[in-house]
Amino acid sequence: APHFQFQDGVLHAEDVALEQLAQEHGTPLYVYSRQALRDAWEAYRIASEGRDVLICYGMKANSNLAVLDEFRKLGSGFDIVSGGELARVLAIGGDPSRIVFSGVGKQVWEMQAALNAGVKCFNVESEAELLRLAEVADQCGKVAPVSLRVNPDVDAHTHPYISTGLKENKFGIAIENALTVYQRAMSFPSLRVVGVDCHIGSQITEVSPYLDALDKLIALIKQLAAHGIQLKHMDLGGGIGIRYTDETPLTPKQLLDEVFLALQAHELTHLQIVLEPGRSLVGNAGVLLTRVEYLKHTEARNFAIVDAAMNDLIRPTLYDAWHSVEPVTPRSGGQPAPSYDIVGPICESGDWLAKDRQLDLQHGDLLAIMSAGAYAFTMSSQYNSRPRAAEVMVDGAKATVVRPREALDSLFDTESVLTD
Ligand code: LLP
Repeated sequence: APHFQFQDGVLHAEDVALEQLAQEHGTPLYVYSRQALRDAWEAYRIASEGRDVLICYGMKANSNLAVLDEFRKLGSGFDIVSGGELARVLAIGGDPSRIVFSGVGKQVWEMQAALNAGVKCFNVESEAELLRLAEVADQCGKVAPVSLRVNPDVDAHTHPYISTGLKENKFGIAIENALTVYQRAMSFPSLRVVGVDCHIGSQITEVSPYLDALDKLIALIKQLAAHGIQLKHMDLGGGIGIRYTDETPLTPKQLLDEVFLALQAHELTHLQIVLEPGRSLVGNAGVLLTRVEYLKHTEARNFAIVDAAMNDLIRPTLYDAWHSVEPVTPRSGGQPAPSYDIVGPICESGDWLAKDRQLDLQHGDLLAIMSAGAYAFTMSSQYNSRPRAAEVMVDGAKATVVRPREALDSLFDTESVLTD
């Protein structure tokens, strides 16, 4: 990633040396590049120029307020999936009319909060949810804007854990049943049908799965129109992949060029297009810094035991995900470097961050786990009573702590013991 570069042999985030940040703030430490966020946004802005497009940042990827606020200033809306995410957007003064509310299990209180805030749209995923929303909206004296998330049954060619558009997934309404559910939705005075949405998966690298989904959505939109149901927008979800190693993912422009060609061909240019990108806006804007505590050479393998663990970054063990590992100050060693598994201190064999990496290491070395801006901190936990890592945002030569390292007593200061 161009925002994390070697200058004079040491890895920097923009103009700040990562070793300096690690010394100042300790490790494990998440470091984000503000310029990387802006550049990732720029790709979507260019792709949207002169077109009716709303980008709703899929904030589950990274929901730090500093990240949200940056995207808010750039003009982004937000794709939320919980009352907690709604609270975060409201906390930074985000515009509710640019929020879409996704998720298969919305609770009553979450619907109420979103109705009161005045979100752009509820992305409804089942008939049961539709009935509940109609009831909740009625009780609140509101009309809920509704899109149905349809399941187009396409293969996104990605990891099964993050593929969501196939028939067997829990998500969405089977596209064959969509007309019936739309007709049902039209019958409630407390609902207003405004759109259709889908989300076929994540870390998608080719455009073809999107085109398959697009075709099916367009066919549905025409079928609905023939039944007198006019939609205002079509939301294609998130999913554009990033480069972790050697992938060359599709670009936002490639996708939107295809989408608008199709809209023209089908005389559907009145439709607004919504996208919900998460990873592609933040994934390569962050690294996780971790220090080597011990080297352990066993008969079977070499381990570098580091101070970050699966509680900080669960993607490797959960998805078998590959993150590049860069020594922050590489040594120009003569002999061939041994192959290390980079593992954490947690009491689980699954606690690893990388496997079989050729690295010339000594204890005390600082490593950067790359592409750790998305689904990294947001998926972290306190397992093994490890306080969550700090997060720092770099802007040029300036670094700001945007979330301090959790204090030890914050691990248990809301807990209590029984008094009898
Ligand atoms: N919209 C919906 C409805 C979603 O479910 C998601 C992600 C997004 C948008 C954003 O997708 P993106 O542009 O980031 O691909 N934890 C996994 C990824 C899970 C994605 C969940 N849904 C990982 O670390 O790879």
